[in-house]
Amino acid sequence: MKRLIIGISGASGVPITIALLKALKNLDDWTSCLVISKGGEKTIEMETDYTVQDVIDLADEVHDIKNIGASIASGTYKTEGMVIVPCSMKTVAGIANGYSDNLLLRAADVVLKERRKLVLVARETPFNTIHLKNMLSLSQMGAIIMPPVQTYYNMPETVQDMIDHITGKILDVFDIDYQNFRRWNPESE
Ligand SMILES: Cc1cc2nc3c(=O)[nH]c(=O)nc-3n(C[C@H](O)[C@H](O)[C@H](O)COP(=O)(O)O)c2cc1C
Repeated sequence: MKRLIIGISGASGVPITIALLKALKNLDDWTSCLVISKGGEKTIEMETDYTVQDVIDLADEVHDIKNIGASIASGTYKTEGMVIVPCSMKTVAGIANGYSDNLLLRAADVVLKERRKLVLVARETPFNTIHLKNMLSLSQMGAIIMPPVQTYYNMPETVQDMIDHITGKILDVFDIDYQNFRRWNPESE
């Protein structure tokens, strides 16, 4: 069983997390380990019809943000890596500076130190220089900075199409095929 840690922090973009958790739930060989910040709980309530409990119910394992003794706080607990989606600039700053004062930040710190895959769906616009410096430093440490930037070459017709595209990009990092992901393939046109 492969484990993927999913962190939700207080940025806009929770519908992407919901699509990601639903996709993982359909896979027999993957377990999702969810941790949600207080800001993440707020954005779930403010930008979706889901309750926090609805989102929790989509995950296989859930960890309290305050429980810094949880399994995912240790490098000895094997995972394939972590996706923080959405990732706020505060959480970006915390990871970039090793300031691990909650379980989400600690889990990301562990993923970095163990040289596992860390995908940050970092969301803010526009970015200020501090945001950009922090993201550069994380990229230099091996994290994948994947802001939920829209694409148009896939001809999205609905918001869900846009959500599915970024969800497919995230899952691609872990070699998971997402059935709603339309790859660029001009030869097939
Ligand atoms: C509805 C809502 C949307 C927000 N969107 C963003 C965002 O897109 N990017 C961001 O960096 N912060 C955003 N914030 C602010 C963060 O939630 C805030 O900085 C918080 O302290 C982040 O803490 P966390 O990373 O521990 O969740 C938003 C806040 C709210 C209430």
